Amino acid sequence: MTVYPLFIPTGLIIAVDGPAASGKTTVGLRFAKLIRAICLDTGIMYRAVALAALNSKIDPLDEPAVVEVAERINIQVKPASVKDGRSYDVLIDGADVTWEIRSDGVNRSVSEVSVYKGVRRAMTLRQQDIARAGNIVMLGRDIGTVVLPDADLKFYLNASAEVRAQRRYEEEKKRGVILDLSEVIASIKHRDVLDSSRKHAPLKPAEDAITINTDTLSIEQVVDRMIVEVNTVLRKHSFTCD
Ligand code: CDP
Repeated sequence: MTVYPLFIPTGLIIAVDGPAASGKTTVGLRFAKLIRAICLDTGIMYRAVALAALNSKIDPLDEPAVVEVAERINIQVKPASVKDGRSYDVLIDGADVTWEIRSDGVNRSVSEVSVYKGVRRAMTLRQQDIARAGNIVMLGRDIGTVVLPDADLKFYLNASAEVRAQRRYEEEKKRGVILDLSEVIASIKHRDVLDSSRKHAPLKPAEDAITINTDTLSIEQVVDRMIVEVNTVLRKHSFTCD
């Protein structure tokens, strides 16, 4: 069953947070398309910082150098120009890095560079700027808590590390990359710990977030649930003509 939005919203700002591989990207893209909103996956931005630092031979532990990279680089997300399974193109300073930002090296260092206050400040300002026009679904770890605390609707998607790892494994398999499942579980758990325990903007549900455990839910079921919540918000804000 597909639940359709009551009408096309204008200006809604929606935060979707959750741990690694909780399905935010797949769900978020479909959901945003249905409500005709822009979808911004902020993980791309942190991945871009990690990749740009690696490519410049900067040690992820060198905070001032990483912050300088975060403040300097130009990150663009554009409609997919190649049919190779990508949902969009990601460019750093004009160069296509769509798949490079998903590399093992980036997976290993992204949560390390994401702890830096200066990196977070640089990314948060850009994200708030993009959200200003409204009509956006923003995906991340700290969107409901820090980036867009006044969002109209906040979701927190969760699932067990095992289920998330299995999904990541299947995703990569579709691209012809066979991973070691136990390594994927370990890497996801490691990122969970780093993301939830950091001092600045840790991963956690906002107090007013709607948590959806996606362990046993399909993508469609999660999207349906989110649309039901959007409709509730829209009903509250709609005019009555009596
Ligand atoms: O796709 P996946 O769930 O593996 O991760 P992602 O959303 O691409 O994010 C990669 C990493 O960026 C996370 O593990 C966080 O360390 C960091 N990140 C963050 O700190 N804040 C955000 N708003 C988004 C991502």
